[in-house]
Amino acid sequence: MLRAGRHHSSATEELQIIPPSKLSVEGVSKSFRSASGNVLALDRVSLKVAEGEFVCLVGTSGCGKTTLLNIIAGLEKADSGAVLADGKPVTGPGRERLVMFQEPALFPWLDVFGNVLFGLKLKPNLTNEDRREVAKYYLELVGLSRFEHANIHELSGGMKQRVSLARALAPNPRVLLMDEPFAALDALTREQLYGDIQEIWKARRKTIVFVTHNVREAACLGDRVLLFSPHPGRIQEEFTVNLPRPRDINSVDLAAHATQITKALKSAGKAEAIAPK
Ligand SMILES: Nc1ncnc2c1ncn2[C@@H]1O[C@H](COP(=O)(O)OP(=O)(O)OP(=O)(O)O)[C@@H](O)[C@H]1O
Ligand SMILES: [Mg+2]
Repeated sequence: MLRAGRHHSSATEELQIIPPSKLSVEGVSKSFRSASGNVLALDRVSLKVAEGEFVCLVGTSGCGKTTLLNIIAGLEKADSGAVLADGKPVTGPGRERLVMFQEPALFPWLDVFGNVLFGLKLKPNLTNEDRREVAKYYLELVGLSRFEHANIHELSGGMKQRVSLARALAPNPRVLLMDEPFAALDALTREQLYGDIQEIWKARRKTIVFVTHNVREAACLGDRVLLFSPHPGRIQEEFTVNLPRPRDINSVDLAAHATQITKALKSAGKAEAIAPK
């Protein structure tokens, strides 16, 4: 464990597995003003995520998934309600809760290694040597050791997302918030990453909230899948996925879960189509 009040730390301490957070979203509402009027992006949304749980949020475009993720991250403020991490209100962003976006937000002027190191700048206890050791560990974990000195523009989309993942993991957050991180990738690359993310989650014990449009992806990764309904954004239904891990995205059992969720998703879409404005 990292001990508070010490003036020096080491990479070994930094790399230890820390207890993941539990999250509690309590009656969060958020609306946006736009040219076409007010949009109620989230309407009294409540959910609990246990320590080390992997929860997936699915729902049609515009139903408030990113808004909720940003509020959990502390990047955006709710109009009402609260987010608690380990019982404490989230009032702003912090390195305990890091976000990984759909498009890799990497710095093109830094190489792969530099991008992962960047996430460790906020750790004043580490020496430069410690930071290098930690960065190397995470590059190995995501399978990119050979590419540590590659330029960002030389990487494929999948490799960029691996760098983003290493950069998000390096500061050892308790919560990882992922917003459609694999949406722009081809199916084969995505399948590899499903395997990797399951392994990494097992090895590093993070609490993960993962947003996706892809129902199969949600069933492959999540302990639970929360289905959002749009306008106003609400949690419509919850599915528990009890399949053993590692899960294969192409397995028959997984397809059965995905079919069930897809049916509910379609009925949410229909309900919206016939709802009076
Ligand atoms: N900054 C903003 N200003 C105005 N409206 C916004 C803003 N951010 C989100 N919205 C609106 O809030 C609603 C929810 O948006 P959000 O981005 O959370 O949806 P989403 O579920 O992540 O969608 P997608 O699956 O397309 O990413 C949408 O109707 C969107 O237009
Ligand atoms: Mg979104």
